[in-house]
Amino acid sequence: MIAPSILSADFARLGEEIEMINRSEADWIHADVMDGVFVPNLSFGFPVLKSVAKLSQKPLDIHLMIVNPEKFIPEVKALGTYIMNVHYEACTHLHRIVQQIRESGMQPAITVNPATPVSLLKDIIQEVYLVLIMSVNPGFGGQKFIEHSIEKVCELRELIEKTNSKALIEVDGGINKETGTRLVTAGVDVLVAGSVIFKSEKPEKTIHDLKNL
Ligand code: DX5
Ligand code: ZN
Repeated sequence: MIAPSILSADFARLGEEIEMINRSEADWIHADVMDGVFVPNLSFGFPVLKSVAKLSQKPLDIHLMIVNPEKFIPEVKALGTYIMNVHYEACTHLHRIVQQIRESGMQPAITVNPATPVSLLKDIIQEVYLVLIMSVNPGFGGQKFIEHSIEKVCELRELIEKTNSKALIEVDGGINKETGTRLVTAGVDVLVAGSVIFKSEKPEKTIHDLKNL
């Protein structure tokens, strides 16, 4: 599956960018929420996401790069999305938050930063719908892919098989056709791609190409 990250979209033409994604073969719309605390950047919040949700014909994949994400479960739910994605490093009581997300009627997803080993997910993997492996340090689009992420995908695939978990594997950061091809071979289910799509001349065609890696 392909989830275009609107962090790299032209915000002055956000409506048109969403309509392009609607027309394309993309599966989800990936939306990066940043708080300037958990990550050294700010992006957009719920007022913008509400407008995105209204226009989008694809499910929203909300990537919360924020501290205390549990505070916003009702706001995320109100967007009508089914996935809520929180960072492992931002949640002291991760198990509780995962349960709260599920109780709210959404599917819980966990993101791990580049320096967080996937082995730390052993005791939560059976509770989650999806694990997102960051292949750059979160906070900015257009960064270089961290090679070690490929190994992490293989380790996570092994953990999923060993525990009979049904978790999907998503990777985010520095994805292009070359890194995407290797990630698909390693066993990834969902590729997030920002700059490679929105900075390309034919974004819909780029989405098509990524879809057919
Ligand atoms: C980074 C975000 C990513 C970002 C990816 O913190 O989580 O979703 O938009 O951008 P590219 O694909 O340009 O690396
Ligand atoms: Zn993201």
